[in-house]
Amino acid sequence: MLSKISQLREEAMAAIAEADSQERLDKVRVQYLGKKGELTALLRGLGQVDPQQRPVIGQAVNSLRADLEQALADKGAVLAEQEQAARLAKEKIDITLPGRRPQIGTFHPLTIVLREIQEIFLGMGYEVAEGPEVETDYYNFEALNIPAEHPARDMWDTLYTAGNTLLRTHTSPVQVRTMERMQPQVPIKIIAPGRVYRRDALDASHSPVFNQVEGLVVDRGITFADLKGTLVLFVQKMFGKDRQVRFRPSFFPFTEPSAEVDVSCIVCNGAGCRLCSQTGWLEILGAGSVHPRVLEMSGYDPTVYSGFAFGLGVDRIALLKYGIDDIRHLYENNWSFLKQFRTE
Ligand code: DAH
Repeated sequence: MLSKISQLREEAMAAIAEADSQERLDKVRVQYLGKKGELTALLRGLGQVDPQQRPVIGQAVNSLRADLEQALADKGAVLAEQEQAARLAKEKIDITLPGRRPQIGTFHPLTIVLREIQEIFLGMGYEVAEGPEVETDYYNFEALNIPAEHPARDMWDTLYTAGNTLLRTHTSPVQVRTMERMQPQVPIKIIAPGRVYRRDALDASHSPVFNQVEGLVVDRGITFADLKGTLVLFVQKMFGKDRQVRFRPSFFPFTEPSAEVDVSCIVCNGAGCRLCSQTGWLEILGAGSVHPRVLEMSGYDPTVYSGFAFGLGVDRIALLKYGIDDIRHLYENNWSFLKQFRTE
């Protein structure tokens, strides 16, 4: 009987040592200590044992039982710890993942081009002037020699806010505001950048809001040749020395004579293509010698003073410079488009 007990002890201890999960360990417990377990059977059989030997054997069985319980508890604790460690290892969050870089914005292509235009003219001694976007009829039209009912008003239809105020259709009113502010001083040499508005539907080449830079020079003895030299220099700085410049006769009520200025097409270099409608030229601005009536209305005697003025389309220049085929790209705030103008 005692040898049976020690054999059982060896088997049970080995089984406990081998158990590699709490589930297995539980089975070992049932196998030895369960209701139908092997040790339980031994205890039951104690009745048939010789009463002389019963205390000895009973003690051996009880001590085996206590030892097994202890061994099961110890192994259970070890397994519980191992299983938790394994689970934690599996669920671990990798805190070494790199962070997300914040996206850094870019200058808008219009801003880049506008700054470039300003740099060029500041380099020639111009100052920057500004005027309101909500303008009066007088500054936007009357003082620029466009009286009410003048057919030229059709070219500049816009939104009238109230009575005599409207969204300015060009930056030319800043010419008048500057002359009123400066008179009777000369020289005047300003550029006036800003937003302008027209009654145009948005399409590939029109936007109801766009940007211009106005230029005005007034002094004694200013001629059309000064205008020409200035604009040729501007075009070459903006588009490169190879660009050809063409002055085409035109009409504006506030200049006499008036011209529209074209540059040789940036795509075909003058040969004729789709962008330039086969003409080889692209228009970028309107210009002319300041009309004597405009000088006079703003306080400068046209028999003493003369001047030239120009108005260039910033959007147009941006489209040409970057080869953008649709003006809407400039106003849709699409990051895929804008991020191409990263300047770092
Ligand atoms: N203001 C004209 C426009 O918006 C452009 C222009 C033409 C401006 C001739 C000028 C100029 O200063 O002299 O169409």
